[in-house]
Amino acid sequence: MIKVGVIGCKGRMGVEVCRAVEAAPDLDLVAAVDAGDDYAPLQAADVIVEFTVPRATMANVQWCIENGLDVVVGTTGYDEERLATVRGWLEGRPSRVLIASNFSIGSILMMRFAELAAPYFESVEIIEFHHPDKVDAPSGTAVTTARRIAAARAAAGVAPSPDATETDPLGARGASIDGVHVHAVRQRGLFANQEVRLGNEGEQLVITENGFARSAYMPGVLAAVRGIGSLTGFTFGIEGLLGLA
Ligand SMILES: NC(=O)c1ccc[n+]([C@@H]2O[C@H](COP(=O)([O-])OP(=O)(O)OC[C@H]3O[C@@H](n4cnc5c(N)ncnc54)[C@H](O)[C@@H]3O)[C@@H](O)[C@H]2O)c1
Repeated sequence: MIKVGVIGCKGRMGVEVCRAVEAAPDLDLVAAVDAGDDYAPLQAADVIVEFTVPRATMANVQWCIENGLDVVVGTTGYDEERLATVRGWLEGRPSRVLIASNFSIGSILMMRFAELAAPYFESVEIIEFHHPDKVDAPSGTAVTTARRIAAARAAAGVAPSPDATETDPLGARGASIDGVHVHAVRQRGLFANQEVRLGNEGEQLVITENGFARSAYMPGVLAAVRGIGSLTGFTFGIEGLLGLA
């Protein structure tokens, strides 16, 4: 039985994580805290799951490391500087930290498929579709997908996607991330969807991932909770645990 503690238990993701842990026969939810709560009950856990807000997550991770706990982090906002700080905190400490910007298995596979396909097509663009309450654009997943596509194409020596656009004063061609165009749609009724559209003369390949609910992230979160004990120190992403690294 793995004992699990949740930080951010009153949030949309935290509620879903508590429900998933309670439903798993091999996991035991021993503590669940949110802002302002006493963190002492978390010390009974083997693994902490942290889904809070970017301004709070670093302090939570530091607390877990100082208390010798392993932590799975889903909160967004980890740039290179923050990741380096977390790696520094881990030096000489027994804790393990796994940070993943996306726990959805479909999204992880979509990114992998896109990266594999990207060198074989002349043109590639990304369209991401989300609910209108999302505050950032393009999505973190779209940015990561674009970067991985660009890296795969650069490694294979593929030329940039052809584009004769000379004027685009209103930004109709979308954001260009490492040369890959990304378009963001915000629409009521949507949750989280992404299309990677690849084109060659006479054919098109479209890789689509449709997320319908937060439950989509739970198999990945639980895989991280079950797998973190096999890791050491710092890990980014769950690709390794899924055999996709
Ligand atoms: N990695 C992924 O796959 C993935 C998927 C979905 C969402 N997210 C990210 O997860 C985070 C949480 O998303 P959400 O939709 O649940 O947000 P939310 O706003 O619904 O919940 C955040 C929770 O954190 C709590 N909180 C704030 N400060 C805290 C603190 N100092 N200590 C403890 N708890 C604190 C809030 O009270 C709230 O209950 C966001 O950063 C979001 O972008 C990641």
